[in-house]
Amino acid sequence: QTEEEEVRIGFSQAMLNDEWRQSMNNAMEVQASLYPNVTLSISNANYNVQQQIAQLKEFISDSVDIIIVSPIQSKPITPIVEEAMNAGIPVLVVDRKTDNQKYTAYVGADNIEVGRNAAKIIVSNVQDSLSVIEIRGLAGSSPADERSLGFHQILDKFPKIKFAGTIEGDWEKESITESLRELLSRTGPVDYIFAHNDRMAKGAWEEARNLGMEGHIKIIGVDGLNGPNGGIQLVKDGVLNATILYPTGGAEAIKIALKILNAEVVPTNNILSTTVIDQFNADIMQNQFSKINEQQGLIESQISAIKRQEQLYYSQNNILKIIIIF
Ligand code: FRU
Repeated sequence: QTEEEEVRIGFSQAMLNDEWRQSMNNAMEVQASLYPNVTLSISNANYNVQQQIAQLKEFISDSVDIIIVSPIQSKPITPIVEEAMNAGIPVLVVDRKTDNQKYTAYVGADNIEVGRNAAKIIVSNVQDSLSVIEIRGLAGSSPADERSLGFHQILDKFPKIKFAGTIEGDWEKESITESLRELLSRTGPVDYIFAHNDRMAKGAWEEARNLGMEGHIKIIGVDGLNGPNGGIQLVKDGVLNATILYPTGGAEAIKIALKILNAEVVPTNNILSTTVIDQFNADIMQNQFSKINEQQGLIESQISAIKRQEQLYYSQNNILKIIIIF
């Protein structure tokens, strides 16, 4: 594909209601706008698997040049990804995986490592016995399975660490409040809660506060978004003990998609780095991310200035042509 050739990217996003996904989309849009020949269409699957399948079908029948997908759940999205591949459309899977490796490439952080990082925080504080509650993300979505796997890989080796219970969430805090209330009322304050994302972690803190236990339980989340409602701020506010950074990979996804279309060799697994954000580095992380956001904002305004100039040039050029004709 040469630079001038038009490139159409179709992205099926699992849903749009949370800031993590909005930030992913934003990073993709900024990155895509750097290439005038790239058109990025983002469809929101609204957390509805059937809708996501229908969107992917549409991308296939539209013969987009490449599909990017963040599957709501692995299993139901696997066959349609295969269908796209069989139709000759490359597929880049982001954040959540399908059930097999029949896609062109994957980009996202290592969710097993995310779970292990959370476990390591707990292990490094174990003296006597410790009790832990795990709050899982949506069953059947790969980050939930992998975060849990990594978490258990480490904690199950420590007999002093006891699981007081596991709660099945769906990534949103509303899904966990009742069962957590019921569990904590039975167990009393536990030492740690690991929630698979910061939204549920915040919900867990609110529930602990309702029960007067918030000072006793250390809560670990995942995502570490910047901004007033993000995980980094929650760590700074002392709501969370720590959060494990889970980068969205929006900009990387577009870069990798374009490499695939340029027939460059791309690794099947493009793993983004993750790290622990706690009281010791929350400030530094916040500063770093704010700088990146500032630069992103600058790029966005420069791009729209260039577009305005182009429009002005074309309209002046057209006026000139009309004058010459007459
Ligand atoms: C956003 C989200 C994140 C989580 C990710 C897992 O929709 O729920 O909070 O880390 O999805 O795929």
